[in-house]
Amino acid sequence: MPESLSPADVAKRNAAARALNFVEDGMKLGLGTGSTAAWFVRLLSERITSEGLDITAVATSSTTVFLAEDLGVPLRSLDRVGRLDLTVDGADEFDIGLNLIKGGGAALLQEKIVASSSDRLVIITDPAKRVKDLGAFPLPVEVVQFGSSLTQAAIDEILRDADVDGTDITLRLNKEKPLVTDEGHYILDLHLGRIGNPAKLAHDLNTLPGVVESGLFIDLADAVVVGHENGETELILRDTALDAVEMMHNEDA
Ligand code: 5RP
Repeated sequence: MPESLSPADVAKRNAAARALNFVEDGMKLGLGTGSTAAWFVRLLSERITSEGLDITAVATSSTTVFLAEDLGVPLRSLDRVGRLDLTVDGADEFDIGLNLIKGGGAALLQEKIVASSSDRLVIITDPAKRVKDLGAFPLPVEVVQFGSSLTQAAIDEILRDADVDGTDITLRLNKEKPLVTDEGHYILDLHLGRIGNPAKLAHDLNTLPGVVESGLFIDLADAVVVGHENGETELILRDTALDAVEMMHNEDA
């Protein structure tokens, strides 16, 4: 491993390496976006070369398309491939119930479509992504450009009644201009501090006509692999995670 890797990068690489164990010959794979998912694409490409692994992959962003093509990972469109066996992606935050915030890389829409089209979603992270409550990371919401300031005002109304600690909303910029996603939309970042009821907020946001999707991934992840810089990895399975949620609620009652 190159010595210049930061501890976080070593952890991300370790998580990606463990997730590679889930990949089998002949699988149809979804490839996530971000620095952790990029490690998975790199390691996958090494396995394709060394073992002649036969897989078909679908990318979740133009960035991942460039990387996968560069590394010789065979890509197809989601429409052509249909349902996927497994998607491996990163996350900005995950909680004890394996609910996620995603979209730090502005790819949440394709990521959510691909995750929802997969039999299994495995999230790979470094330890910094584990949180008690989602929301310290600004929640990305993808909105259509048309009327985006009115959509922002409507989101603001929803936040007034939501169980959150903050309500600031910022339009994500790219070199001082609004960032435009791969699907041609804007991203609003919601600075909430803490989200008390992520499932309700995800539902409420999706009722607004100008909202395309939020970065709240509820009940989608089947497992989270946490990589550590010392080489250890933790595999948190959804069923175990749900047991832990139930136990926590029983303790609170
Ligand atoms: C992109 C994402 C990424 O998975 C998320 O931002 C994590 O990125 P990284 O692995 O670089 O920390 O949701 O839209």
